Amino acid sequence: MTIQTVATKPFAGQRPGTSGLRKKVTEFQQPGYLENFVEAIFLTLGGGKGATLVLGGDGRFYNRSAIQTILRMAAAHKVQKVLVGRGGILSTPAVSCVIRKRGAFGGIVLSASHNPGGPDGDFGIKYNIENGGPAPEKITEAIYAHTQTLSEYHISDAGPVNLDEIGATTLDGMTVEVIDPVADYAELMSRLFDFDAIRELFQRGFTMRFDGMSAVSGPYAKAIIEGMLGAPEGTVINDEPLEDFGGHHPDPNPVNAFDLVALMNGPDAPEFGAASDGDGDRNMIVGRKLAVAPSDSLAIIAANATLAPGYRDGLKGIARSMPTSQAADRVAAALGIACFETPTGWKYFGNLLDANLATLCGEESYGTGSNHIREKDGVWAVLFWLNLIAATGKSVNRIVREHWARFGRNYYSRHDYEAVDAAAADRMMLALRGKLASLAGQRFGEFRVAQADDFVYTDPVDQSVATKQGIRIIMSDGSRIVLRLSGTGTEGATVRVYLERYEADPSRHDLDTQEALAPLIAIAEQVSELKQRTGRNEPSVIT
Ligand code: G1P
Ligand code: ZN
Repeated sequence: MTIQTVATKPFAGQRPGTSGLRKKVTEFQQPGYLENFVEAIFLTLGGGKGATLVLGGDGRFYNRSAIQTILRMAAAHKVQKVLVGRGGILSTPAVSCVIRKRGAFGGIVLSASHNPGGPDGDFGIKYNIENGGPAPEKITEAIYAHTQTLSEYHISDAGPVNLDEIGATTLDGMTVEVIDPVADYAELMSRLFDFDAIRELFQRGFTMRFDGMSAVSGPYAKAIIEGMLGAPEGTVINDEPLEDFGGHHPDPNPVNAFDLVALMNGPDAPEFGAASDGDGDRNMIVGRKLAVAPSDSLAIIAANATLAPGYRDGLKGIARSMPTSQAADRVAAALGIACFETPTGWKYFGNLLDANLATLCGEESYGTGSNHIREKDGVWAVLFWLNLIAATGKSVNRIVREHWARFGRNYYSRHDYEAVDAAAADRMMLALRGKLASLAGQRFGEFRVAQADDFVYTDPVDQSVATKQGIRIIMSDGSRIVLRLSGTGTEGATVRVYLERYEADPSRHDLDTQEALAPLIAIAEQVSELKQRTGRNEPSVIT
Protein backbone atom coordinates (compact mmCIF):
# COMPACT_ATOMS: atom_id res chain seq x y z
CA MET A 1 0.00 0.00 0.00
CA THR A 2 1.29 3.43 -0.83
CA ILE A 3 0.82 6.96 0.27
CA GLN A 4 -0.24 9.22 -2.54
CA THR A 5 0.38 12.90 -2.88
CA VAL A 6 -2.46 14.49 -4.80
CA ALA A 7 -2.38 17.96 -6.27
CA THR A 8 -5.36 20.03 -5.17
CA LYS A 9 -6.79 23.50 -5.52
CA PRO A 10 -7.06 25.76 -2.47
CA PHE A 11 -10.54 26.83 -1.34
CA ALA A 12 -11.76 29.99 -2.96
CA GLY A 13 -12.42 32.21 0.05
CA GLN A 14 -14.69 29.89 2.02
CA ARG A 15 -14.13 30.74 5.63
CA PRO A 16 -15.53 28.07 7.94
CA GLY A 17 -17.73 29.35 10.75
CA THR A 18 -17.07 28.66 14.40
CA SER A 19 -18.95 25.39 14.11
CA GLY A 20 -16.57 24.25 11.38
CA LEU A 21 -17.19 24.00 7.69
CA ARG A 22 -20.87 23.56 6.77
CA LYS A 23 -21.87 23.31 3.12
CA LYS A 24 -24.18 21.51 0.76
CA VAL A 25 -23.33 17.82 0.29
CA THR A 26 -22.85 18.54 -3.41
CA GLU A 27 -20.05 20.96 -2.55
CA PHE A 28 -18.36 18.42 -0.34
CA GLN A 29 -18.55 15.90 -3.18
CA GLN A 30 -16.34 18.01 -5.45
CA PRO A 31 -12.94 16.37 -5.99
CA GLY A 32 -10.47 17.45 -3.32
CA TYR A 33 -12.96 19.55 -1.33
CA LEU A 34 -13.20 17.47 1.86
CA GLU A 35 -9.56 16.45 1.44
CA ASN A 36 -8.46 20.09 1.34
CA PHE A 37 -10.07 20.82 4.70
CA VAL A 38 -8.79 17.61 6.30
CA GLU A 39 -5.26 18.26 5.04
CA ALA A 40 -5.51 21.75 6.55
CA ILE A 41 -6.45 20.19 9.89
CA PHE A 42 -3.40 17.93 9.81
CA LEU A 43 -1.12 20.80 8.79
CA THR A 44 -2.49 22.82 11.72
CA LEU A 45 -1.86 19.94 14.12
CA GLY A 46 1.74 19.87 12.93
CA GLY A 47 1.18 16.61 11.09
CA GLY A 48 -0.70 14.32 13.47
CA LYS A 49 2.16 11.81 13.76
CA GLY A 50 1.73 9.45 16.71
CA ALA A 51 -1.57 11.03 17.84
CA THR A 52 -4.81 9.32 18.84
CA LEU A 53 -7.88 10.91 17.27
CA VAL A 54 -11.61 10.33 17.66
CA LEU A 55 -13.81 10.30 14.55
CA GLY A 56 -17.55 10.02 14.02
CA GLY A 57 -20.64 11.79 12.87
CA ASP A 58 -24.40 12.03 13.03
CA GLY A 59 -24.99 9.43 10.31
CA ARG A 60 -26.23 11.85 7.68
CA PHE A 61 -25.65 11.26 3.97
CA TYR A 62 -21.91 11.28 3.07
CA ASN A 63 -20.88 10.39 6.65
CA ARG A 64 -19.53 6.95 5.80
CA SER A 65 -17.72 8.01 2.68
CA ALA A 66 -16.13 11.00 4.45
CA ILE A 67 -14.96 8.72 7.27
CA GLN A 68 -13.17 6.39 4.84
CA THR A 69 -11.42 9.37 3.24
CA ILE A 70 -10.40 10.82 6.59
CA LEU A 71 -9.08 7.45 7.79
CA ARG A 72 -6.93 7.08 4.68
CA MET A 73 -5.60 10.61 5.13
CA ALA A 74 -4.93 10.03 8.83
CA ALA A 75 -2.92 6.92 7.90
CA ALA A 76 -0.93 8.94 5.39
CA HIS A 77 -0.15 11.45 8.15
CA LYS A 78 1.08 8.65 10.42
CA VAL A 79 -1.61 9.09 13.03
CA GLN A 80 -1.15 6.25 15.51
CA LYS A 81 -4.73 5.41 16.25
CA VAL A 82 -8.23 6.53 15.32
CA LEU A 83 -11.23 5.65 17.47
CA VAL A 84 -14.32 5.50 15.23
CA GLY A 85 -17.89 4.99 16.36
CA ARG A 86 -19.50 1.84 14.96
CA GLY A 87 -21.27 2.59 11.71
CA GLY A 88 -19.47 5.94 11.71
CA ILE A 89 -21.86 7.09 14.44
CA LEU A 90 -20.88 9.40 17.29
CA SER A 91 -23.03 12.22 18.58
CA THR A 92 -21.26 15.55 19.13
CA PRO A 93 -21.44 15.14 22.94
CA ALA A 94 -20.15 11.55 22.60
CA VAL A 95 -17.10 12.74 20.62
CA SER A 96 -16.38 15.22 23.40
CA CYS A 97 -16.83 12.50 26.01
CA VAL A 98 -14.59 9.97 24.23
CA ILE A 99 -11.81 12.52 23.63
CA ARG A 100 -11.73 13.34 27.34
CA LYS A 101 -12.15 9.82 28.65
CA ARG A 102 -9.53 8.24 26.39
CA GLY A 103 -7.09 11.15 26.60
CA ALA A 104 -7.13 11.61 22.82
CA PHE A 105 -5.29 14.44 21.11
CA GLY A 106 -8.49 15.65 19.47
CA GLY A 107 -11.36 14.57 17.29
CA ILE A 108 -13.22 15.22 14.08
CA VAL A 109 -17.00 15.60 14.17
CA LEU A 110 -18.96 15.12 10.96
CA SER A 111 -22.25 16.95 11.20
CA ALA A 112 -24.18 19.95 10.07
CA SER A 113 -26.03 19.87 13.40
CA HIS A 114 -29.73 20.53 12.86
CA ASN A 115 -29.47 21.43 9.16
CA PRO A 116 -31.39 19.04 6.88
CA GLY A 117 -29.51 15.98 5.57
CA GLY A 118 -29.62 13.81 2.44
CA PRO A 119 -28.00 14.15 -1.00
CA ASP A 120 -29.46 17.66 -1.37
CA GLY A 121 -28.97 18.59 2.28
CA ASP A 122 -25.99 19.85 4.21
CA PHE A 123 -22.80 18.25 5.48
CA GLY A 124 -20.22 19.56 7.90
CA ILE A 125 -16.89 18.93 9.54
CA LYS A 126 -15.28 20.44 12.62
CA TYR A 127 -12.23 19.81 14.75
CA ASN A 128 -12.34 19.44 18.55
CA ILE A 129 -9.29 19.79 20.76
CA GLU A 130 -8.06 17.68 23.64
CA ASN A 131 -10.39 19.20 26.25
CA GLY A 132 -13.21 17.79 24.09
CA GLY A 133 -14.46 21.19 22.97
CA PRO A 134 -14.59 22.94 19.60
CA ALA A 135 -11.25 24.30 18.44
CA PRO A 136 -10.71 27.90 19.53
CA GLU A 137 -10.49 30.66 16.99
CA LYS A 138 -6.71 30.64 16.68
CA ILE A 139 -6.88 27.01 15.53
CA THR A 140 -9.88 27.46 13.23
CA GLU A 141 -8.15 30.50 11.70
CA ALA A 142 -4.97 28.46 11.14
CA ILE A 143 -7.01 25.71 9.46
CA TYR A 144 -8.66 28.32 7.28
CA ALA A 145 -5.29 29.85 6.34
CA HIS A 146 -3.98 26.45 5.24
CA THR A 147 -7.08 25.80 3.10
CA GLN A 148 -6.21 28.96 1.16
CA THR A 149 -2.67 27.98 0.29
CA LEU A 150 -2.19 24.23 0.23
CA SER A 151 -1.55 22.64 -3.13
CA GLU A 152 -1.49 18.93 -2.30
CA TYR A 153 -2.86 16.41 0.17
CA HIS A 154 -1.69 13.04 1.39
CA ILE A 155 -3.77 9.91 1.34
CA SER A 156 -3.23 6.18 1.60
CA ASP A 157 -4.67 3.99 -1.13
CA ALA A 158 -5.57 1.30 1.42
CA GLY A 159 -9.03 0.55 2.71
CA PRO A 160 -11.94 0.65 3.03
CA VAL A 161 -12.25 -0.19 6.72
CA ASN A 162 -15.23 -2.22 7.97
CA LEU A 163 -17.00 0.29 10.22
CA ASP A 164 -19.71 -2.09 11.34
CA GLU A 165 -17.75 -4.38 13.61
CA ILE A 166 -16.37 -3.47 16.99
CA GLY A 167 -12.64 -4.10 17.26
CA ALA A 168 -9.25 -3.01 15.98
CA THR A 169 -7.81 -3.29 12.49
CA THR A 170 -4.89 -1.59 10.82
CA LEU A 171 -4.79 0.68 7.84
CA ASP A 172 -1.35 1.31 6.40
CA GLY A 173 0.23 0.91 9.84
CA MET A 174 -2.41 3.00 11.67
CA THR A 175 -4.73 1.34 14.20
CA VAL A 176 -8.42 1.85 13.57
CA GLU A 177 -10.50 0.90 16.57
CA VAL A 178 -14.21 0.70 15.97
CA ILE A 179 -15.90 1.44 19.30
CA ASP A 180 -19.44 1.15 20.65
CA PRO A 181 -20.69 4.72 20.08
CA VAL A 182 -22.82 4.69 23.23
CA ALA A 183 -20.78 2.85 25.91
CA ASP A 184 -18.38 5.58 27.15
CA TYR A 185 -21.13 8.18 27.10
CA ALA A 186 -23.66 5.97 28.90
CA GLU A 187 -21.10 5.17 31.60
CA LEU A 188 -20.52 8.89 32.19
CA MET A 189 -24.28 9.53 32.44
CA SER A 190 -24.67 6.72 34.98
CA ARG A 191 -22.15 8.50 37.22
CA LEU A 192 -23.88 11.90 36.97
CA PHE A 193 -27.49 10.84 37.53
CA ASP A 194 -29.42 8.66 39.95
CA PHE A 195 -30.17 5.78 37.60
CA ASP A 196 -31.72 3.71 40.42
CA ALA A 197 -34.29 6.39 41.20
CA ILE A 198 -35.11 6.87 37.51
CA ARG A 199 -35.44 3.10 37.06
CA GLU A 200 -37.94 3.02 39.94
CA LEU A 201 -39.84 5.90 38.37
CA PHE A 202 -40.34 3.88 35.18
CA GLN A 203 -41.19 0.78 37.22
CA ARG A 204 -44.00 2.74 38.85
CA GLY A 205 -45.45 3.29 35.37
CA PHE A 206 -44.10 6.76 34.52
CA THR A 207 -44.72 7.52 30.85
CA MET A 208 -42.40 9.33 28.47
CA ARG A 209 -41.84 9.92 24.78
CA PHE A 210 -38.38 10.72 23.42
CA ASP A 211 -38.28 11.72 19.74
CA GLY A 212 -34.89 10.97 18.17
CA MET A 213 -36.03 12.73 14.98
CA SER A 214 -34.29 9.96 12.99
CA ALA A 215 -30.98 11.55 13.88
CA VAL A 216 -28.06 10.57 16.08
CA SER A 217 -29.51 10.81 19.60
CA GLY A 218 -31.83 7.82 18.97
CA PRO A 219 -29.29 5.07 19.71
CA TYR A 220 -28.15 6.90 22.87
CA ALA A 221 -31.67 7.45 24.17
CA LYS A 222 -32.69 3.90 23.27
CA ALA A 223 -29.70 2.30 25.01
CA ILE A 224 -29.93 4.49 28.11
CA ILE A 225 -33.64 5.25 28.61
CA GLU A 226 -35.08 1.92 27.44
CA GLY A 227 -32.01 -0.27 27.98
CA MET A 228 -30.45 0.90 31.24
CA LEU A 229 -33.39 2.71 32.82
CA GLY A 230 -36.05 0.19 31.87
CA ALA A 231 -38.55 2.45 30.14
CA PRO A 232 -40.97 0.40 28.04
CA GLU A 233 -40.14 -0.23 24.42
CA GLY A 234 -41.61 2.49 22.24
CA THR A 235 -40.67 5.23 24.70
CA VAL A 236 -37.97 6.29 22.24
CA ILE A 237 -39.31 6.84 18.74
CA ASN A 238 -37.57 7.69 15.46
CA ASP A 239 -34.55 6.13 17.10
CA GLU A 240 -32.62 5.09 14.03
CA PRO A 241 -30.26 7.64 12.46
CA LEU A 242 -31.23 7.90 8.79
CA GLU A 243 -29.12 9.48 6.06
CA ASP A 244 -31.83 12.04 5.33
CA PHE A 245 -33.26 12.06 8.89
CA GLY A 246 -36.39 10.55 7.38
CA GLY A 247 -37.15 13.99 5.97
CA HIS A 248 -37.42 15.45 9.48
CA HIS A 249 -35.89 18.80 10.20
CA PRO A 250 -33.94 17.60 13.22
CA ASP A 251 -33.96 20.85 15.16
CA PRO A 252 -36.09 20.36 18.23
CA ASN A 253 -38.40 23.29 18.76
CA PRO A 254 -42.18 23.45 18.88
CA VAL A 255 -42.26 24.10 15.12
CA ASN A 256 -40.10 21.18 13.93
CA ALA A 257 -41.06 18.76 16.69
CA PHE A 258 -44.72 19.47 15.97
CA ASP A 259 -45.82 15.83 16.42
CA LEU A 260 -44.32 15.64 19.87
CA VAL A 261 -45.89 18.92 20.96
CA ALA A 262 -49.28 17.84 19.55
CA LEU A 263 -49.02 14.58 21.49
CA MET A 264 -48.14 16.45 24.69
CA ASN A 265 -51.12 18.77 24.17
CA GLY A 266 -53.55 15.96 23.48
CA PRO A 267 -55.59 13.54 25.59
CA ASP A 268 -53.05 10.69 25.35
CA ALA A 269 -50.07 12.74 26.47
CA PRO A 270 -47.39 10.88 28.39
CA GLU A 271 -46.06 12.61 31.50
CA PHE A 272 -42.84 13.76 29.88
CA GLY A 273 -41.75 14.56 26.32
CA ALA A 274 -38.29 15.27 24.95
CA ALA A 275 -36.40 15.56 21.68
CA SER A 276 -32.88 16.17 20.43
CA ASP A 277 -31.33 17.48 17.21
CA GLY A 278 -29.30 16.09 14.29
CA ASP A 279 -26.02 15.63 16.14
CA GLY A 280 -27.50 15.17 19.61
CA ASP A 281 -26.35 18.34 21.34
CA ARG A 282 -29.67 20.20 21.58
CA ASN A 283 -32.69 19.31 23.70
CA MET A 284 -36.33 20.14 24.05
CA ILE A 285 -38.24 19.46 27.27
CA VAL A 286 -42.04 19.20 27.17
CA GLY A 287 -44.60 18.62 29.90
CA ARG A 288 -48.34 18.16 29.47
CA LYS A 289 -49.52 21.25 27.57
CA LEU A 290 -46.24 22.98 28.34
CA ALA A 291 -43.09 23.30 26.25
CA VAL A 292 -40.40 24.40 28.68
CA ALA A 293 -38.47 27.43 27.42
CA PRO A 294 -34.77 26.50 27.19
CA SER A 295 -33.86 29.53 29.29
CA ASP A 296 -36.24 28.29 32.01
CA SER A 297 -34.85 24.78 31.71
CA LEU A 298 -31.34 26.08 32.46
CA ALA A 299 -32.59 28.02 35.48
CA ILE A 300 -34.62 25.07 36.80
CA ILE A 301 -31.73 22.62 36.39
CA ALA A 302 -29.50 25.10 38.22
CA ALA A 303 -31.96 25.62 41.08
CA ASN A 304 -32.32 21.85 41.59
CA ALA A 305 -28.84 20.71 40.59
CA THR A 306 -27.88 19.14 43.90
CA LEU A 307 -30.63 16.52 43.43
CA ALA A 308 -28.40 14.87 40.81
CA PRO A 309 -25.46 12.90 42.26
CA GLY A 310 -22.91 14.42 39.85
CA TYR A 311 -23.79 17.92 41.11
CA ARG A 312 -24.39 17.10 44.76
CA ASP A 313 -21.63 19.44 45.92
CA GLY A 314 -23.26 22.44 44.28
CA LEU A 315 -22.38 24.70 41.41
CA LYS A 316 -19.34 26.93 40.94
CA GLY A 317 -21.21 29.25 38.66
CA ILE A 318 -23.66 29.44 35.77
CA ALA A 319 -22.98 30.77 32.30
CA ARG A 320 -25.56 31.77 29.73
CA SER A 321 -25.33 33.36 26.31
CA MET A 322 -26.31 37.01 26.24
CA PRO A 323 -29.66 36.56 24.43
CA THR A 324 -30.69 33.77 26.84
CA SER A 325 -33.21 35.01 29.40
CA GLN A 326 -32.10 36.23 32.80
CA ALA A 327 -34.01 33.47 34.62
CA ALA A 328 -30.67 31.78 35.44
CA ASP A 329 -29.30 35.04 36.88
CA ARG A 330 -31.99 35.00 39.57
CA VAL A 331 -31.09 31.45 40.54
CA ALA A 332 -27.39 32.31 40.65
CA ALA A 333 -28.14 35.28 42.88
CA ALA A 334 -30.17 33.09 45.25
CA LEU A 335 -27.37 30.50 45.35
CA GLY A 336 -24.75 33.20 45.87
CA ILE A 337 -22.76 32.16 42.79
CA ALA A 338 -21.66 34.04 39.67
CA CYS A 339 -23.68 34.14 36.47
CA PHE A 340 -21.58 34.82 33.37
CA GLU A 341 -23.05 36.41 30.27
CA THR A 342 -21.22 35.30 27.12
CA PRO A 343 -21.67 35.89 23.40
CA THR A 344 -23.80 33.43 21.42
CA GLY A 345 -21.97 30.16 20.66
CA TRP A 346 -20.87 27.26 22.83
CA LYS A 347 -17.16 27.97 22.39
CA TYR A 348 -17.38 30.92 24.79
CA PHE A 349 -18.19 28.56 27.66
CA GLY A 350 -14.98 26.54 27.23
CA ASN A 351 -12.64 28.76 29.24
CA LEU A 352 -15.17 29.22 32.06
CA LEU A 353 -15.63 25.44 32.34
CA ASP A 354 -11.90 24.68 32.10
CA ALA A 355 -11.14 27.28 34.79
CA ASN A 356 -13.92 25.83 36.98
CA LEU A 357 -15.67 29.19 37.12
CA ALA A 358 -18.92 27.73 35.81
CA THR A 359 -20.49 24.29 36.21
CA LEU A 360 -23.65 24.70 34.13
CA CYS A 361 -24.15 26.60 30.92
CA GLY A 362 -26.92 27.14 28.45
CA GLU A 363 -28.33 28.98 25.48
CA GLU A 364 -31.88 29.93 24.54
CA SER A 365 -31.42 27.90 21.33
CA TYR A 366 -32.20 24.59 23.06
CA GLY A 367 -28.62 24.04 24.23
CA THR A 368 -27.82 23.07 27.81
CA GLY A 369 -24.74 21.44 29.30
CA SER A 370 -22.19 21.27 32.07
CA ASN A 371 -18.55 20.69 32.84
CA HIS A 372 -18.93 16.93 32.22
CA ILE A 373 -17.88 17.51 28.59
CA ARG A 374 -17.16 20.58 26.42
CA GLU A 375 -20.18 20.49 24.10
CA LYS A 376 -23.83 21.06 24.84
CA ASP A 377 -25.59 17.80 25.46
CA GLY A 378 -29.16 16.86 24.55
CA VAL A 379 -29.53 13.46 26.24
CA TRP A 380 -27.78 14.79 29.36
CA ALA A 381 -30.44 17.52 29.73
CA VAL A 382 -33.23 14.98 29.33
CA LEU A 383 -31.65 12.72 31.96
CA PHE A 384 -31.29 15.72 34.29
CA TRP A 385 -35.04 16.32 34.02
CA LEU A 386 -35.77 12.64 34.60
CA ASN A 387 -33.57 12.82 37.69
CA LEU A 388 -35.46 15.91 38.94
CA ILE A 389 -38.83 14.26 38.34
CA ALA A 390 -37.70 11.04 40.08
CA ALA A 391 -36.18 12.88 43.05
CA THR A 392 -39.09 15.26 43.64
CA GLY A 393 -42.02 13.10 42.53
CA LYS A 394 -43.38 16.21 40.79
CA SER A 395 -44.61 16.64 37.23
CA VAL A 396 -42.81 18.86 34.69
CA ASN A 397 -45.67 21.33 35.04
CA ARG A 398 -45.42 21.52 38.78
CA ILE A 399 -41.64 21.88 38.76
CA VAL A 400 -41.91 24.78 36.30
CA ARG A 401 -44.79 26.53 38.11
CA GLU A 402 -43.15 26.26 41.49
CA HIS A 403 -39.98 27.67 39.99
CA TRP A 404 -41.88 30.68 38.59
CA ALA A 405 -43.66 31.16 41.90
CA ARG A 406 -40.34 31.31 43.70
CA PHE A 407 -38.21 33.27 41.22
CA GLY A 408 -40.75 35.00 38.99
CA ARG A 409 -41.36 34.24 35.32
CA ASN A 410 -39.19 35.55 32.50
CA TYR A 411 -41.56 35.58 29.53
CA TYR A 412 -39.33 34.90 26.56
CA SER A 413 -39.49 34.44 22.81
CA ARG A 414 -37.22 34.51 19.77
CA HIS A 415 -38.45 35.73 16.40
CA ASP A 416 -36.37 34.62 13.41
CA TYR A 417 -36.50 36.25 10.00
CA GLU A 418 -34.75 33.75 7.75
CA ALA A 419 -33.15 34.17 4.33
CA VAL A 420 -33.58 37.93 4.22
CA ASP A 421 -31.53 40.09 1.90
CA ALA A 422 -28.07 40.22 3.48
CA ALA A 423 -27.34 43.82 2.47
CA ALA A 424 -30.68 45.01 3.89
CA ALA A 425 -29.99 43.19 7.15
CA ASP A 426 -26.55 44.77 7.39
CA ARG A 427 -28.01 48.23 6.76
CA MET A 428 -30.60 47.65 9.48
CA MET A 429 -27.94 46.69 12.02
CA LEU A 430 -25.80 49.66 11.00
CA ALA A 431 -28.72 52.03 11.44
CA LEU A 432 -29.50 50.52 14.84
CA ARG A 433 -25.93 50.93 16.00
CA GLY A 434 -26.12 54.57 14.99
CA LYS A 435 -29.19 55.06 17.18
CA LEU A 436 -27.96 53.41 20.36
CA ALA A 437 -26.72 56.55 22.10
CA SER A 438 -30.00 58.38 21.55
CA LEU A 439 -32.09 55.46 22.84
CA ALA A 440 -30.78 55.62 26.39
CA GLY A 441 -33.34 57.25 28.68
CA GLN A 442 -36.07 57.23 26.03
CA ARG A 443 -39.59 56.21 27.07
CA PHE A 444 -41.78 53.73 25.21
CA GLY A 445 -45.15 53.50 26.97
CA GLU A 446 -44.59 51.74 30.27
CA PHE A 447 -40.91 51.09 29.46
CA ARG A 448 -37.87 53.31 29.83
CA VAL A 449 -34.58 52.38 28.16
CA ALA A 450 -31.93 52.04 30.84
CA GLN A 451 -29.13 50.93 28.55
CA ALA A 452 -28.64 50.38 24.82
CA ASP A 453 -25.42 48.95 23.46
CA ASP A 454 -23.72 46.47 21.16
CA PHE A 455 -22.64 43.62 23.42
CA VAL A 456 -18.89 43.37 24.06
CA TYR A 457 -17.47 40.39 25.96
CA THR A 458 -14.15 40.21 27.70
CA ASP A 459 -13.24 36.63 28.58
CA PRO A 460 -12.45 36.59 32.31
CA VAL A 461 -9.83 33.87 31.79
CA ASP A 462 -7.72 34.96 28.82
CA GLN A 463 -8.99 38.57 28.53
CA SER A 464 -9.78 38.12 24.85
CA VAL A 465 -12.40 40.55 23.62
CA ALA A 466 -15.35 39.82 21.31
CA THR A 467 -17.12 42.89 19.94
CA LYS A 468 -20.40 43.45 18.04
CA GLN A 469 -22.12 40.46 19.65
CA GLY A 470 -25.66 41.80 19.41
CA ILE A 471 -27.69 44.96 20.01
CA ARG A 472 -29.18 45.08 23.50
CA ILE A 473 -31.98 47.40 24.49
CA ILE A 474 -32.38 46.97 28.23
CA MET A 475 -35.36 48.51 30.02
CA SER A 476 -35.30 49.84 33.54
CA ASP A 477 -37.43 46.89 34.76
CA GLY A 478 -34.96 44.38 33.30
CA SER A 479 -37.04 43.62 30.20
CA ARG A 480 -34.90 43.32 27.10
CA ILE A 481 -34.90 43.41 23.32
CA VAL A 482 -31.87 41.88 21.60
CA LEU A 483 -31.18 41.89 17.87
CA ARG A 484 -28.41 40.03 16.12
CA LEU A 485 -27.60 38.36 12.84
CA SER A 486 -27.19 34.58 12.81
CA GLY A 487 -23.72 33.19 12.24
CA THR A 488 -24.92 29.76 11.15
CA GLY A 489 -27.51 30.38 8.41
CA THR A 490 -26.61 29.17 4.93
CA GLU A 491 -28.91 31.37 2.84
CA GLY A 492 -28.88 35.19 2.88
CA ALA A 493 -29.04 36.61 6.40
CA THR A 494 -31.12 35.49 9.37
CA VAL A 495 -32.20 38.25 11.73
CA ARG A 496 -32.92 37.09 15.26
CA VAL A 497 -35.02 39.24 17.59
CA TYR A 498 -35.02 38.11 21.23
CA LEU A 499 -37.68 39.40 23.62
CA GLU A 500 -37.80 39.08 27.38
CA ARG A 501 -40.12 40.41 30.07
CA TYR A 502 -40.02 39.70 33.77
CA GLU A 503 -43.16 39.08 35.82
CA ALA A 504 -42.91 38.49 39.57
CA ASP A 505 -46.65 38.22 40.28
CA PRO A 506 -47.81 34.54 40.21
CA SER A 507 -51.34 35.62 39.28
CA ARG A 508 -49.82 36.81 35.99
CA HIS A 509 -47.87 33.66 35.14
CA ASP A 510 -50.53 32.27 32.81
CA LEU A 511 -50.47 34.85 30.07
CA ASP A 512 -49.92 33.89 26.47
CA THR A 513 -46.20 34.49 25.83
CA GLN A 514 -46.65 36.50 22.63
CA GLU A 515 -49.32 38.63 24.28
CA ALA A 516 -47.15 39.23 27.32
CA LEU A 517 -44.35 40.34 25.00
CA ALA A 518 -46.52 42.36 22.59
CA PRO A 519 -45.42 45.82 23.81
CA LEU A 520 -41.75 44.83 23.43
CA ILE A 521 -42.39 43.33 19.99
CA ALA A 522 -43.86 46.69 18.95
CA ILE A 523 -40.89 48.62 20.35
CA ALA A 524 -38.44 46.31 18.55
CA GLU A 525 -40.21 47.04 15.27
CA GLN A 526 -40.41 50.77 15.92
CA VAL A 527 -36.72 51.03 16.70
CA SER A 528 -35.35 48.66 14.02
CA GLU A 529 -37.86 49.27 11.18
CA LEU A 530 -37.29 45.60 10.48
CA LYS A 531 -40.47 45.01 8.46
CA GLN A 532 -39.91 47.85 6.09
CA ARG A 533 -36.18 47.23 5.74
CA THR A 534 -36.46 43.49 5.08
CA GLY A 535 -39.84 43.47 3.35
CA ARG A 536 -41.09 40.88 5.84
CA ASN A 537 -44.36 41.09 7.70
CA GLU A 538 -44.01 38.02 9.87
CA PRO A 539 -41.13 36.13 11.44
CA SER A 540 -40.31 32.83 9.66
CA VAL A 541 -40.07 31.00 12.98
CA ILE A 542 -41.23 31.93 16.46
CA THR A 543 -39.85 29.94 19.37
C1 G1P B 1 -27.28 29.29 16.57
C2 G1P B 1 -27.79 29.55 17.96
C3 G1P B 1 -26.64 29.54 18.95
C4 G1P B 1 -25.88 28.21 18.83
C5 G1P B 1 -25.47 27.98 17.39
C6 G1P B 1 -24.82 26.62 17.19
O1 G1P B 1 -26.36 30.30 16.20
O2 G1P B 1 -28.49 30.76 18.04
O3 G1P B 1 -27.14 29.73 20.24
O4 G1P B 1 -24.73 28.22 19.64
O5 G1P B 1 -26.61 28.05 16.53
O6 G1P B 1 -25.68 25.57 17.55
P1 G1P B 1 -26.77 31.58 15.31
O7 G1P B 1 -27.38 31.05 14.03
O8 G1P B 1 -27.77 32.36 16.11
O9 G1P B 1 -25.48 32.34 15.08
ZN1 ZN C 1 -26.55 20.30 17.09
